[in-house]
Amino acid sequence: MNVLVTGGTGYIGSHTCLALLDAGYTPVIYDNLSNSSIKVLDQLSKISSHTFDFIEGDIADSKKLKATFEQYNIEAVFHFASLKAVGESTEQPLSYYRNNVAGTVTLLETMQSCGINKIIFSSSATVYGDPQYLPIDEQHPITATNPYGWTKVMVEQILVDWCKTDYQHLAIALRYFNPVGAHPSGLLGESPNGIPNNLMPFIAQTAVGKREFVSIFGNDYNTKDGTGVRDYIHITDLAAGHVAAFSTHQNDSGSLVYNLGTGKGYSVLEIINAFSESANIEIKYKFAPRRAGDIASNFADASLAKKNLGWTAQLNIEAMTDDTWHWQSKYPNGLE
Ligand code: NAD
Ligand code: UD1
Repeated sequence: MNVLVTGGTGYIGSHTCLALLDAGYTPVIYDNLSNSSIKVLDQLSKISSHTFDFIEGDIADSKKLKATFEQYNIEAVFHFASLKAVGESTEQPLSYYRNNVAGTVTLLETMQSCGINKIIFSSSATVYGDPQYLPIDEQHPITATNPYGWTKVMVEQILVDWCKTDYQHLAIALRYFNPVGAHPSGLLGESPNGIPNNLMPFIAQTAVGKREFVSIFGNDYNTKDGTGVRDYIHITDLAAGHVAAFSTHQNDSGSLVYNLGTGKGYSVLEIINAFSESANIEIKYKFAPRRAGDIASNFADASLAKKNLGWTAQLNIEAMTDDTWHWQSKYPNGLE
């Protein structure tokens, strides 16, 4: 089965392409390269000995999408393409609504005109806002605290409504907790542009000397050591979660939602310590004020995915920091 992967040269999309290929699907990559490198394709070939078909295109380009759907006889879409920087979304909300929301509407309209009924969507635990209870299950109320988060809430709603219009439509929204790590080969990983916003890439860049120290945003939270707690999930497990969701439900219909997390929370200090062990380098850090919009703790109830998909995260925090270090030390400047 040929499937289209929008955002397939990005961090999560590229790893998921490998998992899809392993599972017997043929992913066709569609990406405008706004936040990824064309060199990802070479890395994917080295790892898999497979040449992935690639179309440089934007999800807003209905004509190109349609031509791609027809050329490859696409049967389902894995939709990763989106802008994802929370801070930037508060400065440029309209870009986020246009790219993430309007772009997804164009994608769905084009799918519909080509008779493609199945979509797997990259959502986020950000849709839970400030948790009312922990661990967070899929029934937890959803909301948002910034435009990026609202784009995820809005697209989830669009998918629910789209599924109501045709009994053949299938939409699976996967709510990721905190994806980290890299491919175990060290050939593929995350390389954010500019100064990383997220913790793991910031630690990794500090370990290779690109940053002087990690600022820990707050040490007075009501958590085990006062620093923020998150549910970090290895990118390989996350990729496997997509395959499990699609292979389980590919003949079903309706709108479905799953959390993809480990169910375990680690503090910022625990992550820094684990990384120091993996890299055998002391990671310098300083305590800094809380970051606006941050919450104390966040971790998943991942039991629905276990029950329905037979999926659970396998890799522990050591694998996450080992693999991040392997990738970062091999490619300190990413693929550029
Ligand atoms: P990424 O930026 O590495 O990948 C996104 C890819 O989409 C990039 O390659 C980019 O070039 C492409 N893209 C963006 N807009 C496009 C458009 N209009 N047309 C075509 N391609 C476009 O990000 P990622 O971390 O791999 O995230 C993938 C998805 O998962 C996103 O939807 C993101 O919001 C979601 N998500 C990510 C995280 C995370 O921590 N990384 C957490 C929760 C959810
Ligand atoms: C952030 C986004 C969230 C997005 C997710 C993607 C915010 C408020 N939330 O989540 O919408 O889905 O990334 O992975 O931006 N930390 C430091 N120092 C740093 C960086 C982070 O102490 O330099 C701390 C944070 O305060 C937090 C933890 O590390 O406690 C994780 O932060 P981060 O990696 O940015 O993820 P989230 O804030 O959970």
